[in-house]
Amino acid sequence: MIKKFDSFDEYQKAYDKSVADPEGFWAEKASGFNWKKKWDKVLEWNFDEPKVEWFKGGKLNITENCLDRHLATRGDQVAFIWEPNDPSEANKSLTYKELHAEVCRFANVLKKNGVKKGDRVCLYMPMIPELAIAVLACARLGAVHSVVFAGFSASALSDRINDAKAKVVLTSDGAYRGNKNIPVKAVVDEAVKTASCVEKVIVAKRTGENVTMKDGLDVWWHEETKGISAECEAESMDSEDMLFILYTSGSTGQPKGVVHTTGGYMVYAEYSFRNVFQIGDGDVYWCTADIGWITGHTYLVYAPLLAGTTSVIFEGVPTFPDAGRFWAGIQKHKVTHFYTAPTAIRSLMASGLDFVKPYDLSSLKVLGSVGEPINEEAWHWYNDNIGNKNCPIVDTWWQTETGGILISPLAGITPLKPTCATLPLPGVQPVLVDSEGNELKGNDVEGNLCMKYPWPSIIRTLYGDHERCRQTYFSTYKGLYFTGDGCKRDHDGYYRILGRVDDVINVSGHRMGTAEVENAINEHSAVIESAVVGYPHDIKGQGIYAYVILEDFSKTEDVLRKEILDVVTKIIGPIAKPDKIQFVKGLPKTRSGKIMRRILRKVAEGDVSNLGDTSTLLDPSVVDDIKGGALVPLKV
Ligand code: WT7
Repeated sequence: MIKKFDSFDEYQKAYDKSVADPEGFWAEKASGFNWKKKWDKVLEWNFDEPKVEWFKGGKLNITENCLDRHLATRGDQVAFIWEPNDPSEANKSLTYKELHAEVCRFANVLKKNGVKKGDRVCLYMPMIPELAIAVLACARLGAVHSVVFAGFSASALSDRINDAKAKVVLTSDGAYRGNKNIPVKAVVDEAVKTASCVEKVIVAKRTGENVTMKDGLDVWWHEETKGISAECEAESMDSEDMLFILYTSGSTGQPKGVVHTTGGYMVYAEYSFRNVFQIGDGDVYWCTADIGWITGHTYLVYAPLLAGTTSVIFEGVPTFPDAGRFWAGIQKHKVTHFYTAPTAIRSLMASGLDFVKPYDLSSLKVLGSVGEPINEEAWHWYNDNIGNKNCPIVDTWWQTETGGILISPLAGITPLKPTCATLPLPGVQPVLVDSEGNELKGNDVEGNLCMKYPWPSIIRTLYGDHERCRQTYFSTYKGLYFTGDGCKRDHDGYYRILGRVDDVINVSGHRMGTAEVENAINEHSAVIESAVVGYPHDIKGQGIYAYVILEDFSKTEDVLRKEILDVVTKIIGPIAKPDKIQFVKGLPKTRSGKIMRRILRKVAEGDVSNLGDTSTLLDPSVVDDIKGGALVPLKV
C-alpha cells in the first residue's frame, strides 16, 4: 500500500524526486500492488502521436488490488455503506468479503451472457450497490465498462452505446431521485431500438415498477445470479489494456469517449487519493458524485477500494427530503472525509443554516471540493459551518482526461488559500503558456494550463478516434497536453484555476459543449441557427444562455421556448436545458463566418456597456438588436 506523506517538507522532497527521476518514483509506488507479472518498462512516451505507456508488459487485475488483496486483513470491514434516496429506507452495507463475492458472482453472470475480455459493456443505472458491483465485475473479466449517467436521454445513450459498440447494457427497472421516479428501463428500451450491437440487457430491480421485458434480449439481474458461483478468477490484463471508456463533452462535435487503461490508472488513483485526503484506517469517506462521472469512477469506486477505505454510496440528491440531507448523512455514518461539488455547497448555503444546525458534524476531518472553481463565499461557508474551521478543504482540480487529481492541497499538509487548488501532486508538471505557446515562467503569471510530462493516469486515446485525441489535447501547443483551462500562478507559486478558455461550459459541475447544445436546439423545426454561451449563475456556477434565430413565427415565443427545452431534453437530457433563451434576428459574425462569442458572453452577463471592438463584424447592427433584447426580462 502506498505510504502517505506526513509533512509539507516530505511533500516537497517527493515532488522534487518525481521530477528528477519520474520512472524511479513511480516504480516505487507501483511496487506496493499485486502484479501477476512485473512490468518490463516503467514509461514510454511522446506527446506527438500521442503515445503514453506506463508499466508496459506488467500483468494485473485491478479488482484483485481493490478486493482480493484486502480479504485477509479487511474481509469483514465494510467497503460500501449504501444510503438510499429515501432516508426512511434501510441502509445496506457490503463488507470487502461480501463485495468480493458479489463482484465475482456478477462477473460470472456477464460471462454467461456472452461478455468476454475486451467487449464493451454500457451501464445506465442509478446509484445502487449493483452499479459499483457491475463496474468491478466488468474489470474482473477485462471487459471495458462505459458508464453513462442515468440522466442522459435515450438518444444520447444510444449514441454512446453505438460509439462504443457495446454488446451488453446494464440497467434497472426504475430510479428514485429526490421525489422523482425515473423510468430508466424505458429509456434503455428506446435507446437500444437504434443500437443493433446490443445483444443483452440485464435489469436490476429497484423500484419494482412494471417494465417490458423483451424475450431473448432482456433478463433480470436477480434471476441471472441465482445459483451462480461467487468465485471468478480475475482475468490477467496488460497494464495498457483498456479499463474503461467515459464519454465527456468537448468544444466541438459529439461527446468523445475518453479511454483509461489499467496499470497507471490504478497506481495514480490510490496514490492521489491517499495523499490528497490523508485517509487512514477507521475513516469513513463520502464522495457525493454519481458514478456516471469521472469523480465517481476514480474516487468512489476504484481509489477508496484500492486504499481499503469504508465509503458511502448515496442514491439521492442533496435537497431531498430537505437541504439537511448531506449533514444528516454525515452524522448518521460518522463521516470523516466528505467530498462534494461547489454547486451543491452554494445551493445548500442558500437554504440557510437551519438545515445544518441540528446535526452533529464533529466526526469530520477533511472536506473536499471538485468540478468547478469554488468561489470565496462558498469556500468560507463550507469551512465555517461544515468544517467548523477545523477541517482542511482540498480544492481538487482535475478532469475526465486526467483520470485523477492533479492539482490540490494535501489535507493538513499544504498551507491553504481559499479558492486555490494550490500545488501539483508529485509527478505532475504543470506549465502556463501564452496564446502562442510560449512558457510563462516565474510567479504572478496567467495563461493556459498545460502539462509537460505524463502522469500515470493520463488519457490514452479517444475511443475509435486517436487523431481527434491528438488534435484536441496535444496539438494546440507542441509537446504539451492542453487542459482547456485558464490558470493563474500567484506570487507564492500557487495555482488558481480560472475556468475554461474553450467552448466548454461547466453547469453545476457538469461539463457541456456549447456546440452540442446548439446542435440540439437546431433540431427544432422553427429554428434556423443558434449560439450558446455560459454566463455566471449564482448556484450552478455557469448557466446556459441560448441565442436563437427563428424562421417560423407561427407560435408564441413562450410556446417556442418550451418546445426548444423539450427538444434539448430529448436529445441530450435535462442537464443541458438552457436557463435563458433569447430570440434574435442575427448573430454577430465576422466576415469569415465565425460567431464572435465574446460579444454574446458579455450580453449574457448583462454587461452591454463595453462590447469591445465590433468593427470586424459582417453586420454590426445585429449587436444593437441583441443588446435591445437582453434588456427585456427573459422568461424560460
Ligand atoms: C473541468 C473538467 C474533475 C472531476 C469533475 C469534472 C473544471 C474541475 C476544478 C477545480 C476549478 C475545476 C475545469 C476542468 N474543474 N475541478 N477544483 N477548480 N475548476 O470533470 O467533467 O472532466 O470537467 O472541470 O474546468 O477542465 P470534467
